[in-house]
This record gives sequence, structure tokens and C-alpha cells, in this order.
Amino acid sequence: AKTLHQLARESGRYFGAAVDNPELPDTEYADLLGREFGQTTPGNAMKWYATEPQRGVFDFTAGDEIVAYAKAKGLKVRGHTLLWHSQLPDWLTSRTWTPAELRSILKNHITKVAKHYRGKVFAWDVANEIMNEDGTYRENIFYTALGPGYIADALRWAHAADPKAKLYLNDYNVEAVGPKSDAYYKLVKQLKADGVPVDGFGMQAHLALQFGYPDRLRQNIQRFARLGVDVAITELDIRMVLPSDASKLAEQADWYGRVTEDCLAVRRCVGITVWGYSDRHSWIPAVFPGEGAALPWDEKLARKPAYDAIRGALTGG
Ligand code: G3I
Repeated sequence: AKTLHQLARESGRYFGAAVDNPELPDTEYADLLGREFGQTTPGNAMKWYATEPQRGVFDFTAGDEIVAYAKAKGLKVRGHTLLWHSQLPDWLTSRTWTPAELRSILKNHITKVAKHYRGKVFAWDVANEIMNEDGTYRENIFYTALGPGYIADALRWAHAADPKAKLYLNDYNVEAVGPKSDAYYKLVKQLKADGVPVDGFGMQAHLALQFGYPDRLRQNIQRFARLGVDVAITELDIRMVLPSDASKLAEQADWYGRVTEDCLAVRRCVGITVWGYSDRHSWIPAVFPGEGAALPWDEKLARKPAYDAIRGALTGG
């Protein structure tokens, strides 16, 4: 039988999954990644705390390990992420910087990391989670010191360092049409008008059954595509309040199928990445106690109804 990625390939998309370095020695688990998927995103390895643990001292060990694994298995890699308010190194957050210092630190970080991975990643989440729920800019250290122009600067620096990489803005709770996705819509439109290199919008899609299916996801993907950017579903998982039962798993399956269909319905929706793939390794239980079971394979690596639903959607069934 064809893999999820082979099926996605037939319509010119990829189907991928995130992986984190500590998971690679779990060979039974890692083998599934290499077998079923065509793309991977490092869960943590390319973040600032990992890549520049001391100012000006770069460490690409963890990211290189994922890239090497991906290469061996024929997976393409999305880079994640050049700029984020979270998982920053202590040296950066434990003191205040002048705007000029911070600008030069940001430029150097983006330049060094994007240059190192040039030709090894096909896309970058350049700026991750830069908006609040109400559509205002998140007051991260960069915004506070530099104002909203840091986003265009980051995109330009990333483009200069790796002219071929597709450059994305990426966030959660942007799948529905609403204030947060509206803010990105306006921002992407403005960046395009200003000639800033932005190629894509990443919808993380950390969904939860108890919050309902994102309102007008397909139309939302469509409106970004009409701005002339690609859209990717970058971190898909669909959690539930535990314990799971047959009806929750069926609803989850239905949602996995719908997300897949909504992506396939828009030509510029280029691919889907699940954030992990088995309930054996997932960020959710640690962050949302009492929730989980969010992925298409269970802890034992058995396929859940969600897997069949994705398959069904990819085969047009
Ligand atoms: O590295 C330390 C280790 O030294 C320590 O022993 C261990 C004990 O808790 O923690 C380790 O750090 C953990 C890190 O992952 C690396 O494994 C952190 O506690 C943990 O909070 C961190 O979680 C990551 C999370 O981002 C941080 O916000 C998840 O693995 C990662 O999947 C998650 O990914 C994010 C995306 O980047 C952006 N979108 C949301 C998504 C889910 O939160």
C-alpha cells in the first residue's frame, strides 16, 4: 500500500511529521517516520536556545542530526524556527539590550543559522507566533525594542542568507477566520506590497475537539493563497480530554480527514505536517494535563481511525 506521503505526492503535496532528537534512538518509532512520511520538522533542534547557546557561539549538532536522518530517509526538512519569543537562550533574555544591539543580535542569528542550513531546508518558519489572539502584535523582546519592522527585517535577512528557502510566518489559532488570522492576512498583504520576501503562511493547527472545528478553515487557506503565498499546515495535532473513547476517536478521525480535504481543496496548500505522529511522543500531556491522544498512531504505533481518515481524504474517498 502507498504511504501517506506517496498519496500526498500524487497531488503535488508532502505529508510530514515533526521529530525531536531524543526520539531518534527509539528505532521502532523513528523507522515509522522514515517509512510513512516525506518531510520532517525538527521539534526543538533549530530553535535559538539550541543553535546559539552563547552569544555568537553556534551549535548545529542537534539540527544536523535531524538533517542527516532526513537525508538518509529521503525526507525534506522545514526549518523551525529563526525567531520566536519562547525557548530563547538565557544570555539573550537575562539582560536588556539597546535596540541597536538587539537588531544586530537578531540579524546575526538569522544569518548564521539560515546560512548553515542553506540547501538543507526547503522552508523556514522565519517568525513564529508574533501575534496575540486579538490580532495585535505580541510584545516579545524584539517587538518591544524594535517595533513591528523587525518582521520585515527578519524576512529580508533570511532571504539574503538563503535565497532559495521558502520563508513563512507561522502561528497557532489562525486556522479559523478571526481576529488573529485577519491580522496575518493584513500583514502578509502589506509585506507583499512592500516587496518583502514572504512566501508562505503556516497554520500550526494544534486543534482540540472540545473547542470545535476551526471556522471556515478552507476559505481562510484560500484567502491567503489569493495573496500569492503558499499555505502549509505545519504542526497538526487534534487533542481530546482523556480518556479517549470510540466516539472521540471517530470525531478526531473526521477532523483529520477534514483538515486534509481543506488543504487539498486549495492548490497553494503545499503540505501537511503532524506534530509528532504517535501518542508515544507528544508535547500535549505535559502542557495540557488530562488531554492527549492527539496523533494518528497510538502509543504502540498502531494506526488509529485518524490514520484511515487521512488516507481516505488523500485518495479522494
Ligand atoms: O532540554 C530540557 C532538558 O534538559 C530537561 O531535562 C527537560 C525536562 O523537562 O526539559 C527539556 O526541555 C524541554 C524541551 O521541549 C526539549 O525537549 C522543555 O521542558 C519543553 O517545554 C520543550 O517543549 C517543546 C515546546 O515546543 C516548547 O514550547 C516541545 O518539545 C515542542 O514540541 C514544542 O513545539 C512548539 C512549536 O515549536 C511551536 N508551536 C507550538 C509547539 C507546541 O508547543
